[in-house]
Amino acid sequence: MSISGSNREQWGSKAGFILAATGSAVGLGNIWRFPYLAGENGGAAFIFVYIFCVVLIGIPVLIAEILIGRTTQKNPVGSFRTLHKSKFWRGIGGMGVVAGFVILSFYAVVAGWTLGYIFEAVTGNLLNYDIAEEASSHFVELTASPFWNVGLLALVMILTMAIVYFGVQKGIERGSKIMMPLLFVLLIGLMFYGLTMEGSAQGLTYLFNPDWSKINTNVILAGLGQAFFSMSLGMGAMLTYGSYMSRKENVPTSAVWIAVLDTSVALIAGICIFSVVFATGQNPDVGPSLIFRTLPVVFTKMPGGYLFAILFFVALSLAAITSTVSLLEVTTAYFVDEKKWPRKKAVLIIGTITLLLGVPSALSFSPNTSVDVFGFTFFGITEFISSNLMLPIGGFFIAIFVGWIWGFDKVTEYVKEGSEKLFERFPWMIKGWKIVLRFIAPILIIIVLLSSLGII
Ligand code: TRP
Repeated sequence: MSISGSNREQWGSKAGFILAATGSAVGLGNIWRFPYLAGENGGAAFIFVYIFCVVLIGIPVLIAEILIGRTTQKNPVGSFRTLHKSKFWRGIGGMGVVAGFVILSFYAVVAGWTLGYIFEAVTGNLLNYDIAEEASSHFVELTASPFWNVGLLALVMILTMAIVYFGVQKGIERGSKIMMPLLFVLLIGLMFYGLTMEGSAQGLTYLFNPDWSKINTNVILAGLGQAFFSMSLGMGAMLTYGSYMSRKENVPTSAVWIAVLDTSVALIAGICIFSVVFATGQNPDVGPSLIFRTLPVVFTKMPGGYLFAILFFVALSLAAITSTVSLLEVTTAYFVDEKKWPRKKAVLIIGTITLLLGVPSALSFSPNTSVDVFGFTFFGITEFISSNLMLPIGGFFIAIFVGWIWGFDKVTEYVKEGSEKLFERFPWMIKGWKIVLRFIAPILIIIVLLSSLGII
């Protein structure tokens, strides 16, 4: 029974939660964002920071987030209201809802590119690029077109709204069950092909042999932000997914599974991209366009590249859509639970507003239509503020809440539900988790944020 006693939908099966949560976690964050950030931030040094953040901060905060949701069976705002009187904590839930909405607005632009690339793959357009520069200029040309960019953004938002409109279980669970394994298999195939290309070994060195002098506060902030972004943490997405989870399931083990799957997909994608980047003599630090410049070259060279390219962009688009769905679901759950809006009204209104906010992001890729905000493009600034600031701040408060405010005796009791055996065997785990939530995670997050903002 939930505290609220409400009668909510639940995941269809035990694996349903892990699959759906992994569906939310695995997406463009792994395949598009991780490689481009690694390329901008010095490769292996960044990867080291990122993995360190996943293990030390990501997993403990993920457990905390799922646990809040599972205990209250509510959206982020309702959860905090159920657990605490003060308006402050409700506000933290509210910040998550806002962050989700901002992330969705730029994420949907990139999801649009992947949809557009399905079309490029089908028409055979992606197979003309022996030379990386030409693949690059093709991307630049496409994204400079407002029609292409905004049209695809709208398509993504319409698809996302349709899935969320028809409810939790049917849409999300079904989609991720089919697409996740397919994407995984395709990526592994691509990785093996990439590794056979001459010069690819340099890519591996770049990814796994750290040049420590590359580490600075910005690299650390990017790694921390990416850990949160990739695991869908810090804004209540995992909390909301946890709210559809039953008490019988094992929260810590699920969290570790999600982290392992998510990180493996990122590393495999990294190997694919950087083996090709180095085999074709490209620059690793071109930013958000990296995979769209790199992959057409592999598809052109590899046997069966035509079909492979189509399958790849279909699978990637679906992975992106499972993520856009989870982002829209958070805001929708808020308006349905808190404001008593009918689900359909919530989906239509919020989806439309997100689409409008996405338009300036979509227009950020042509000098004619891009607006400059403090030296960033609109796309760049929404991405930076939501991923590198709002998510870590959200994670900070989730750690503080579960570590200090909720009452750790109760927390211990709740986290043990469904994982009694685990904690009988490893009783120290609870203590370790408590120390991380109380001290390590909040202190690290604050230091990283303040120093990267130049405050300390
Ligand atoms: N984690 C997803 C990815 O890596 C993106 C995502 C989905 C997300 N839901 C989120 C990011 C919630 C932050 C918060 O592609």
